[in-house]
Amino acid sequence: MKISCKSLFTLALLSSFIFPASAQNSPVKGVGAISSVNIQGQKVNITTNQNAHVEVTVYSPTIVRVRMDKQPLAADFSYAVIAQPKQTKANITQSANEVTIVTDSLQARITKNPFAVAFYTRDGKVINQDEAGLTTSWIGEEVTTYKKMQEGERFIGLGEKTGGLDRRGSGYTNWNTDAYGYTVGQDPLYATIPFYIGIHSGLNYGIFLDNSYQSDFNFGASNNRFSSFGAQGGEMDYYFIHHKKVADIITSYTDLTGRMNMPPLWSLGYQQNRYSYYPDTEVYRIAQTLREKKIPADGITLDIHYMDAYKLFTWNKERFPNPRQMTDKLRQMGFRTTVIVDPGIKVEDGYAAYESGKKADIFLKYVDGQNYSGQVWPGWTHFPDFTSEKGRAWWRNEVKLYANDGVDGLWNDMNEIATWGQKMPNNVLFDYDGHTTTHKEGHNVYGLQMARASYEGAREHMGNRRPFLLTRAGFSGTQRYAAMWTGDNRAEDNHMLLGIRLLNSMGVSGMPFTAMDIGGFTGNPSVGLYARWIQLGAFTPYFRNHTGVNTKSAEPWAFGEEVTEIARNFISLRYKLLPYIYSSFYEATQNGRPLMRTLAIDYTHDAKVYNSEFDTQYQFGEAFLIMPFESGKNYGKVYFPKGKWYNLYTGEVETGNREEMIPIAFNKLPVYVKESSIVPMQSLIQSTMEKPTDTLTVHVYKGDVANSFVYYEDDGETYDYEKDAYYKRTISYDPKKKTITFDKTDGSFKSKFNNVKVVLHGFDAKTKYKFNGRKADVQDDLASFLAPISRFDPQGTSNPVEGYKVKNVVVKNSNDTFTISY
Ligand code: GLC
Repeated sequence: MKISCKSLFTLALLSSFIFPASAQNSPVKGVGAISSVNIQGQKVNITTNQNAHVEVTVYSPTIVRVRMDKQPLAADFSYAVIAQPKQTKANITQSANEVTIVTDSLQARITKNPFAVAFYTRDGKVINQDEAGLTTSWIGEEVTTYKKMQEGERFIGLGEKTGGLDRRGSGYTNWNTDAYGYTVGQDPLYATIPFYIGIHSGLNYGIFLDNSYQSDFNFGASNNRFSSFGAQGGEMDYYFIHHKKVADIITSYTDLTGRMNMPPLWSLGYQQNRYSYYPDTEVYRIAQTLREKKIPADGITLDIHYMDAYKLFTWNKERFPNPRQMTDKLRQMGFRTTVIVDPGIKVEDGYAAYESGKKADIFLKYVDGQNYSGQVWPGWTHFPDFTSEKGRAWWRNEVKLYANDGVDGLWNDMNEIATWGQKMPNNVLFDYDGHTTTHKEGHNVYGLQMARASYEGAREHMGNRRPFLLTRAGFSGTQRYAAMWTGDNRAEDNHMLLGIRLLNSMGVSGMPFTAMDIGGFTGNPSVGLYARWIQLGAFTPYFRNHTGVNTKSAEPWAFGEEVTEIARNFISLRYKLLPYIYSSFYEATQNGRPLMRTLAIDYTHDAKVYNSEFDTQYQFGEAFLIMPFESGKNYGKVYFPKGKWYNLYTGEVETGNREEMIPIAFNKLPVYVKESSIVPMQSLIQSTMEKPTDTLTVHVYKGDVANSFVYYEDDGETYDYEKDAYYKRTISYDPKKKTITFDKTDGSFKSKFNNVKVVLHGFDAKTKYKFNGRKADVQDDLASFLAPISRFDPQGTSNPVEGYKVKNVVVKNSNDTFTISY
């Protein structure tokens, strides 16, 4: 055979292209070519000629895990993943060049020379593939996998990350950081969620890198060839997930890393914070003012000044002489108390927590056995090792103090770990539950494990009462224990919008229960900014107003009469929406769908939703489309995705797939309702401890598509729902059959609502309705979601009573199926 110069050259080029990383003297060590394959059930074990060890496991028809190391793989251990592989029908075969895995949902093809993985749909479309020539490699201990950048590929997720919704063109680092007053583009922030979703050619996939070392993601930043993910140490250990819908990818990701529990209902009410409210009389004054001004609220939070000299597990006796009495009194007023907990334990002889921690030997240590000391609020402190069962057990026991003092919420702060100077030495050791490691691997899971210890302690000592947990730092899996908030933001317009993007991103990354400091933590918001932010806050999962230590008052009444009215209006709306919000949280506990849904979840392949003009728009639960805008704008451009959208306040219908300039009122956040939506609401209450009237109002918005909503109720307070004490039913709307059906209920709990009022939006006023086949009693109604507002309203709806005419049908609630037809 004659070989031309040209083909010889190509061959040389090709082999140098494929093998450079395997060259002995290259600083980049490639994974090499496969030298042995061992197929065992759903698992393939591979070794390569570069002594790499690989394990590919089918976790489910839609999840494939890939593990790799330069040495034999260590025993499997993860703080994030709680799932075991499901028994799955997988056809695994090999040929001379390839190992092929076929499940019901995808194919994985592993090329032998060099080792490279590619994922395809069943019908052969590329979903995701290693970038030929780069695949996986090591630079020292740092391991990275390179994926070919697909045509038009977009990336969303990665948790609490700044930047746009579409992360294409950006790179990110995961290293939990105390980011006081961060800038809008700063990276990293407080938490690590190494999970993202890739989108291209009508396809979606998720990749979760389960490695707690500092990790780096590159979505085509400073390169046009690949997206990549890697870590500074440990194994390459990633899960590839493929589904047709983004929502299902989130479900699979949360199958792996777990989901939130039902939160206590009070934690979905309004929470009043500041750094700090003290003494107790000031706390009462705040609570009392909320009541007097008829601003509904459920929570009061105590920041670090409740402690004696910032010493954990103490109360400042002068400021809070009788904590139990205070929490009891607050509870009588309809408030629950949340206290801040920081991990640093002051080094001070005679201080009980220090002494008992020393005795129990639970503090993080240097390699020579000496306790590590770092400086934080109380001065020099030691830090419990939450990655050891011993450390967590000690903490659980200390937490008892708060449970005994009637505290309902634990706010876990400074757990990145934050120390003044930000540089905890790397030679501090972490137990890592028996897999002793250094700060390098322990750092990013410290917050997760602190949240876990607090959660477990609260569960242990609060009896059957559900605790509320909040954390600043975290890692994948934190959703199992706590809500997460975005730390020390600034009182600036672009921070309010950044906050929305952060929460949306955390939502697609498996964290549905999230918050930002409403009003901004550093600095003082303008009147307009505060007004807008508090309106938006009503449509965030955990609604907390918080501000820093040396800022002006930021309670809802601190910005003048009109803003008080606006805050009251939107907080009241939030309380009326609690049945809808609680049910939406139930959904998050079942399938991981977040409360705040970037439009990329339901409108994934609509390029417009990634446009920076529109990428803060989001759905709050299934029904509401929220249009966030900075303050001071009278008009703004919005994008309505496909379908029909009702203006919440006027009932006017906008057709979708369209951009539009809309007027923006100072006192009214633009909110739309998706056609065919079902929104259960209740009467106004001032606290979740107050009972609403016994009528559940279910708003139904006429539309062209069938829809259903799972209504969920329980006592909102205890764990009895785990033992069947819940009340659940599907409510569905079918425009073809022209029916609204309430399915038979499930569970042993008795609903607090004896009547159901179905409010019909967008239906012809002349429509005749039937209840279970018989003529229904139809009444005139006014759809009115806000109280009258005082300022001139550019939307021209400043009537004495705001709203629009609709009809309703009121029926007796029954646990059996009933139908309203038209
Ligand atoms: C941190 C927290 C902040 C808190 C402050 C004092 O900065 O992020 O929310 O108010 O510490 O505890």
